[in-house]
Amino acid sequence: MKFDISKYVRSHLLLLSPYQSARQEYEGNEQAMILLDANENPYNSEVNRYPDPMQKELKTRISQWKGVDENQLYLSNGSDEFISQIIMACCEPAQDEIVILPPTFGMYKVAAKLHGVGIREVPLTTSFELDVSAILESVTKTSKIIFVPTPNNPTANSFDLNALETLIQKFSGIVVVDEAYVEFSSNPSTISWIKKYPNLIVCQTFSKAQGLAGARLGMAFAHSDFIAFFNRIKAPYNINSLTINAALSKIKQQDKVEEQVKQMLSERQRLEKAFASIPFIENCFPSDANFILIRLDDSNLRYQQLIENGIVVRNPSKNLNCENTLRISIGLPEENDRLIEVLKRLS
Ligand SMILES: Cc1ncc(COP(=O)(O)O)c(C=O)c1O
Repeated sequence: MKFDISKYVRSHLLLLSPYQSARQEYEGNEQAMILLDANENPYNSEVNRYPDPMQKELKTRISQWKGVDENQLYLSNGSDEFISQIIMACCEPAQDEIVILPPTFGMYKVAAKLHGVGIREVPLTTSFELDVSAILESVTKTSKIIFVPTPNNPTANSFDLNALETLIQKFSGIVVVDEAYVEFSSNPSTISWIKKYPNLIVCQTFSKAQGLAGARLGMAFAHSDFIAFFNRIKAPYNINSLTINAALSKIKQQDKVEEQVKQMLSERQRLEKAFASIPFIENCFPSDANFILIRLDDSNLRYQQLIENGIVVRNPSKNLNCENTLRISIGLPEENDRLIEVLKRLS
């Protein structure tokens, strides 16, 4: 596929010579070599050596699992890091902007501000759907990236895939489809679309269904030229050995992950049913993720009451069209029991 990356990324970064570790020049022979190149402590422990800068073994496993080529995959310190990296890589400070679709995941705005990049907000419709024509009418030449989390956070719904595809086809910049909750969704992943659309980057994470939030590992899937570019601008050893090992063993345990996802989805159904019988809960928005957004009589009051009962939820009420809402993660069955019991008592 013909693709000109210079259209998308900041020109000075195209000229950057990446940091080279000497070890990269002797790939594959590390076991047989005496390693005196990186000023490490030579006494063996699990982590006395620097990790593989290109995470080859892990990328091989992930690419088999996800059905992509290894050169279409980039790994980051959680998706949060990638969100920041792509803004830094593609947007000129004080000149370019990103496009976000509120109510949306809060990190896009934070990362744009961190890099001195503008933010254009195009609201979702009142039923939390993509407004493709409003987005396309609103964007300008300086709109470099649109962030689309699906399933969306905090609303928990997935977006219509036809609408999403139209957006990717018609927008001349990059569309980042953030699939942090895809394992819980009834929609398929859009990863296979990267073969058709070089302006599409799909993000997934080990933090949600995969159960490795503490390890910090994000995956970005894109055209191989994008991936090669990200590999050139990344910190040399950005994924640590402990995380690499945790992810390798997690990939082998997908049966267990699927079982846990099934359990969470059935708990989600149980919570939705229970919420319907609580008088001060006015609406329980349809969820395609491992959390539920509810609208109630007074979110600040109910949030505080839950805290007093030892339960922490999220109050996203300051987000556009989220007045008097709470966002509740699906917990363990006994935690959900306790939540239901407390809510019933409050009513
Ligand atoms: C939509 C979305 N994207 C990304 C993230 C962050 O993922 P990570 O833990 O991989 O940084 C979150 C976390 O809440 C999220 O909701």
